[in-house]
Amino acid sequence: MSTTAELRVDRPMESSIHPAQGGITEVNHPLIQVHLTRLRNKTTQPSLFRASVTRLATLLAYEATKDLCLSKTMIETPLTETPGVELSQRVGLVPILRAGLGMVDPVLELLPMAEVWHLGLYRDEETAQPVRYYDNLPPQHPVDVAIVLDPMLATGGSAMAALMTLREWGVKQVKVVSLIASREGVDAVAAQFPEAQIFVCKIDPVLNDRKYIVPGLGDAGDRIFNTVRSH
Ligand code: PRP
Ligand code: URA
Repeated sequence: MSTTAELRVDRPMESSIHPAQGGITEVNHPLIQVHLTRLRNKTTQPSLFRASVTRLATLLAYEATKDLCLSKTMIETPLTETPGVELSQRVGLVPILRAGLGMVDPVLELLPMAEVWHLGLYRDEETAQPVRYYDNLPPQHPVDVAIVLDPMLATGGSAMAALMTLREWGVKQVKVVSLIASREGVDAVAAQFPEAQIFVCKIDPVLNDRKYIVPGLGDAGDRIFNTVRSH
């Protein structure tokens, strides 16, 4: 038997930005740098690419979930009764199809009770503007916290379209978890959605004339799903 009580735990803040107020966190960790190097390397084959996405998504999700709220609960170990905690917020993972799918399973491993709400967006190759093709959000009862998953934040157009959808749904707390962002894209998202908490492994300096991130890693969806066109 267990009893629960609402609790907002005090958390040590390791980032210089208070995530609850939004802002950009570039997570600088040796393991992130190592796995990111594999991800960027053009000789990395799809299986290792997917494994690297998994590892990086796990490491980023650990950072991105540091401020989730808890409620107290009492449990019994085999020896005695003892206090514990459980998550007290409804969390929704919002992968942007298709590349965001590669990040869902590792984050669900950490948050097995999370809901998954898919958004279908692709970038028009000529204009680099996001085109919405799938959205299955229910009209009511938004989650308390939404975590947008997409490996790449280039112009920021896809992330902003997703955040606009979540704002319309009524989500109070929004997070964006991306493996690589461009400086201009992440700044644009932060300016347009100052309430969003953005977590990335690395902010790369530029976009090329096709709006790809440089140095980047190429097309994340194609590398995850082994659909690189030069085959
Ligand atoms: C990629 C990526 C992001 C978007 C980023 O998706 O996964 O969704 O581009 O670019 P932006 O910040 O300029 O919007 P893509 O359109 O290639 O679709 P895919 O995931 O189906 O490959
Ligand atoms: N989408 C990708 O997959 N990579 C980029 O560099 C830009 C958009």
